Amino acid sequence: MKKHSWHKDIVYQIYPKSFNDTSGNGYGDINGIIEKLDYLEELGVTCLWLSPVFKSPMKDNGYDISDYRKIDPIFGSNEDMYNLISQARTKGIKIMLDLVVNHTSDQHFWFQEAIKGKDNPYRDYYIWRDNKNDLKSIFLGDAWTYDEKSKQYYFHMFAKEQPDLNWENPILRNEIYDMMNFWINHGAEGFRMDVIEFLGKEPENMITSDGKNLHEYIHEMNQQTFGKKDIITVGESWSATDETSKLYTNPNRKELSMIFRFDQITTFWDDKYGKWMTRDFDLLEYKNIIFSRQKKENHKYWNTLFLGSHDLPRSVSQYVDPSFRKVGAKMLFACNAFLSGTPFIYQGDEIGMTNLHFDIDEYKDIEAINAHNMLLDEGFDKDIVEKNILKSSRDNARTPMQWTDTLYAGFSDEKPWTKVNPNYTIINVTKEQNSKDSILAFYKKVIRLRKSEFNDLVLYGDFEALNREHKSILSYQRKQGEKVIKVYCNFSSQETQCSISGNIILNNYDTLDQNLKPYQVVVVKI
Ligand code: GLC
Repeated sequence: MKKHSWHKDIVYQIYPKSFNDTSGNGYGDINGIIEKLDYLEELGVTCLWLSPVFKSPMKDNGYDISDYRKIDPIFGSNEDMYNLISQARTKGIKIMLDLVVNHTSDQHFWFQEAIKGKDNPYRDYYIWRDNKNDLKSIFLGDAWTYDEKSKQYYFHMFAKEQPDLNWENPILRNEIYDMMNFWINHGAEGFRMDVIEFLGKEPENMITSDGKNLHEYIHEMNQQTFGKKDIITVGESWSATDETSKLYTNPNRKELSMIFRFDQITTFWDDKYGKWMTRDFDLLEYKNIIFSRQKKENHKYWNTLFLGSHDLPRSVSQYVDPSFRKVGAKMLFACNAFLSGTPFIYQGDEIGMTNLHFDIDEYKDIEAINAHNMLLDEGFDKDIVEKNILKSSRDNARTPMQWTDTLYAGFSDEKPWTKVNPNYTIINVTKEQNSKDSILAFYKKVIRLRKSEFNDLVLYGDFEALNREHKSILSYQRKQGEKVIKVYCNFSSQETQCSISGNIILNNYDTLDQNLKPYQVVVVKI
């Protein structure tokens, strides 16, 4: 396998709105990220993925962009961004921008022009039809909105304020490539590509994901922008399978470095109601999916390793019994960290931040609000609806970062835009920094180990599953020449018998005996 420098990256996702507010407007900002660069450097991460910070009316928290080349004033200015890029670089940290090019905001100049009429030069930047079909928006409801003036429908996979771009139009594609080059020239060293699977959509044929031109467009983008540079790119694809992910990531095809796949998550979703009605987690199913990506024949297709993001509930709340939060958070990170691929840490997971109880009128996320109404309309009992929304809402991961035990968790001096988790008095960075045994200290240790003499083994070594059929233990071996490490993770709140031999190099408990304790993780070298 050809080695790339970005293989070594450890990415930290920042949700800027909720990371650190220095301007006192209740929203996190770019200077707030600069202020925390030392913290991030100490953690050991090498790349920061910033959820969108571009000009936006914030209907979907910045995933509705009205100007790709301007930083939204709530986050600061373009100068702040250039400053962040250069200050991060002096610490060996790259900035990865979020590229949302399936759609824009309806406030984008292109759309404002396009709705002026059928003859407008920007009309064909978007998707217009005289008649609509049954395609539905991911945020629920029709994927088509009627424009009275021109008597046509425009297409949107998400909210009606997020019209989809028409990737069949080469002029539009070139505009996007120009914009990407603008940011590359300003020092961006990575792109996370929002819902990339939709670019080749064929609405006539009821095809949204993986349309026939998708890979042609991504290849063209690669060639016109980042292809000749050592830039790290990750596409988001909820539909990806083993087969399609090989198309995106086969180095010979010159598309993307890696993709986010979600089958390890969606496999627990309901066929009809998706994430709003999930099944219980089943470790055997989870292992099947995760391990298949580690097979030797899949090694040239680079992988992503993640449990959390701004779109998922807090990982510790999802996978761990709350009485074992601390050991559980440690186990979850270590479990991924010794697999081949790029680890992504979602802000706050390194201190074990948790889901939060929201009252129905406190939800900010358009998706949760729509889902709540949909489930009630379908006749579900109010309590069941609230319980399910609570479990899966994206608001859970978007609460302000908990820095201290002072007012608003040290995130801001003013009332933040969304609810602060009241557990900030016990879960916060300062407290974690003051304890040798904290989740944060453990994350640092794991990152150091991954970067140590075992780095090559972790990145490129052979993988073998251990205790394959065990229902509560996930364990594996990595081997390269004479070097061998074995990782054992107990995913349950029960002690579980497991025989382990070798020299312990990582343990989230003080001791190891015949049984793995609840959520214990042990890494040994042979
Ligand atoms: C992606 C983003 C999500 C956003 C959606 C529409 O899935 O991660 O937050 O709502 O795309 O842009």
